Amino acid sequence: YVIGIDLGTSAVKLLLVNQQGAVAAEVSKAYPLIQQKAGYSEQEPDIWVKQTIAGLSELLDQFTGDRSQIVGLSFSGQMHGLVLLDEKQKPLRNAILWNDTRTTAECREIYETAGKERLLQVTKNPALEGFTLPKILWVKKHEPALFQKAKTFVLPKDYVRLKLTGQLHIDYSDAAGTLLLDIAKKEWSPELCRLFGLAPDFCPPLIGSHEEVGTVLPEVAERAGLSAQTRVFAGGADNACGAIGSGILEEGKTLASIGTSGVVLSYESSGDKDFQGVVHYFNHGAPDCFYTMGVTLAAGFSLSWFKEVFAKDESYSELLEEVDTVPPGANGLLFTPYLAGERTPHADSVIRGSFIGIDSSHERKDFVRAIVEGITFSLHESVQIFREQGKRIDTIVSIGGGAQNETWLQMQADIFEATIVKLSSEQGPGMGAAMLAAVGCGWFPSLRHCAAAFLKVEKEFQPVQDNVEQYKELFRLYQAVYLNTKELN
Ligand code: XUL
Repeated sequence: YVIGIDLGTSAVKLLLVNQQGAVAAEVSKAYPLIQQKAGYSEQEPDIWVKQTIAGLSELLDQFTGDRSQIVGLSFSGQMHGLVLLDEKQKPLRNAILWNDTRTTAECREIYETAGKERLLQVTKNPALEGFTLPKILWVKKHEPALFQKAKTFVLPKDYVRLKLTGQLHIDYSDAAGTLLLDIAKKEWSPELCRLFGLAPDFCPPLIGSHEEVGTVLPEVAERAGLSAQTRVFAGGADNACGAIGSGILEEGKTLASIGTSGVVLSYESSGDKDFQGVVHYFNHGAPDCFYTMGVTLAAGFSLSWFKEVFAKDESYSELLEEVDTVPPGANGLLFTPYLAGERTPHADSVIRGSFIGIDSSHERKDFVRAIVEGITFSLHESVQIFREQGKRIDTIVSIGGGAQNETWLQMQADIFEATIVKLSSEQGPGMGAAMLAAVGCGWFPSLRHCAAAFLKVEKEFQPVQDNVEQYKELFRLYQAVYLNTKELN
């Protein structure tokens, strides 16, 4: 057996996976978001560690077999979050997360200091509020005394791995989201570190997602009930692991993942193409390859916001069942999911969402349908960008919350104009992490071999022509909402 640990934004999810790729046990342990001000989003790093160890212990309680058969574990993690560490490797403050948008001024400063063109050449990505370097500069400017004590930094899952093993690393797929990595050369950029006044040893050692870090520390093994021989593999960014766990491991494969954030992601074999920063361009969790990606910041988050405020007593599946009873177009209601700003295609942290066309005949279910359509339209903007860049997108594997409901899967086929593939018992990033451990332990010669053995297609959804036409018209209106509401924010 191997364990995949997915450190998400709302919870850590742990999977125990056998040699056939079947899930033998699973546990989810939640933790809160801390939002002191609009646009702020933080979490306490030690809660991640506490919940991961508690989750491991619960996972093992569900397992009746011989614990020494659990041979390896690896990680997937929410990207970009800044965990600043002092010289004793203790966090100096709460982590500032990927969906925190306080750093607009720092993004400007990054362009002024490095030049946009040079930044794009080295990191392949634009300066966006969610990425790590702007957060480092924000702390440097606003909390200088605290920053003085900062010796190094890690990303969320790297902090948990540090506490589980005592080893300090960031893996390439997560380092790619910091704006400090030269993604083609796979090394921290000395030029960018120097320009932003970061000491040469501020960035921790780099490691490949599949590489072995060591074993779990004896005291952690005891608390979790694991064997102290359990091998630990570095793991990767949640989007890279989601791609591994969905078999996006060769050119021509595309993924749509709808979780708290939503992404459309496509495999790239080389790191030296030029997408001018219109899509993110990161190192993959599979060795020596890459992926491009468009991001909708508030995808599932739009739905969870609506549920919290207007439908607290309903479950998500009850809410989504209502979607079925409303025709495409939500009876004239249109939603844009910019609750926390938007990344692709607008890279605008200030824009906020809207409902357009509210009529006194509208019921709650129309709002739910409009939200689900709006999230899908936002992801379609990324699909369109990929097509404009010359990528052929005929088939998309859909994972996450958006793949749990057949109406939503059909809607993705109709809006994306592509065959949508639903995997059987899909586990997304957690499975990707387990696959990294499985390959690391020598069960398979490569992740592709592992994917062929572990992943099965459950069902495919084909676009329905009438719906395609109708959504095309609605998508045109959807795109107009951004331009017409931009000035109001
Ligand atoms: C990607 C991004 C999000 C997080 C979610 O750039 O910010 O998808 O990785 O955990």
